[in-house]
Amino acid sequence: MSRKYKGSPRPLKVVAKPATRPDQRHLWLLIAAAVLAVITLIQSGQVRAAGSSVALESPRIDQGNQKSLQRGAQAFVNHCMGCHSADYQRYSRLAQDLGLSEDDVRDNLIFTTDESGEPTKVGALMDNAMTTDYGRQAFGVVPPNLALTARSRGVDWIYTYLKSYYVDPSITTTGVNNLVYPGTAMPHVLWQEQGWQTPVYGEESHGSKPITGLELSEPGSLSPDEYDDLIADITNFMAYMADPIKQTRHRVGIIVLLFLFGLLAIAYTLKKEYWKDVV
Ligand code: HEC
Repeated sequence: MSRKYKGSPRPLKVVAKPATRPDQRHLWLLIAAAVLAVITLIQSGQVRAAGSSVALESPRIDQGNQKSLQRGAQAFVNHCMGCHSADYQRYSRLAQDLGLSEDDVRDNLIFTTDESGEPTKVGALMDNAMTTDYGRQAFGVVPPNLALTARSRGVDWIYTYLKSYYVDPSITTTGVNNLVYPGTAMPHVLWQEQGWQTPVYGEESHGSKPITGLELSEPGSLSPDEYDDLIADITNFMAYMADPIKQTRHRVGIIVLLFLFGLLAIAYTLKKEYWKDVV
């Protein structure tokens, strides 16, 4: 007698799940190799600026150092905002973060006026009066907004850039060139502080002599160490501007971790209490 199974389940088809496919394994290997390469590169300190052969220097900066940020802000408005704007940043926010009163900011950091000729308000964005047309006319390129440059270029790039100007008569517009940004349209705006550097050439190869270093041929008003401090402060300020809540984020991160450790301790003692009669 044949038995009919009504509604019998269909036999289960067992499909063997393929083990990690070989091309996937390759992908993992590739990722691991890439991570290793990046780590080696960073550790060897040989990160170079794109388009140039200069090893970038790291400034010793600390975004928790308000004094350095205040000096950097002052130098930035004095030396850079004639050409560059930073109008993602408000003066009032700066006062708050850098521990300055609004009067401090009004008296020491605001040199610009608004459209009606009134001094710029503390709540305004850090803009300047240069129009894009004028910028293009004067420099060939519009001086970029610097509010986020510390993110796009990195602090090492900015610091080394400000250190690497040298006299180059072949550049007829500004008379200077830069090792990090060859052919830059920006003049050496800190020449009074740094002085003038001239290139030191190495052995001739392939018909040209490579520049192996720069030497200070005409000192400025600051010693080389003081100049490094000045540009480190400016770089620090630019790093703050590009990420104003970094300090807050770190503080909150630490508080959250402490809270979690506290919670762990409570959860653990509670668990011990619950289980002590069971086992
Ligand atoms: C006289 C006008 C002028 C002043 C003052 C000036 N810059 Fe510039 N800057 C320029 C111009 C023009 C460029 C664009 C250069 C180019 O792309 O060739 C530039 C480019 C830059 C760049 C590269 C930005 C990028 O991502 O390409 C940085 C960084 C910079 N300036 C920083 C500064 C700092 C810091 C100061 C103040 C110490 C300053 N500049 C003062 C005109 C100026």
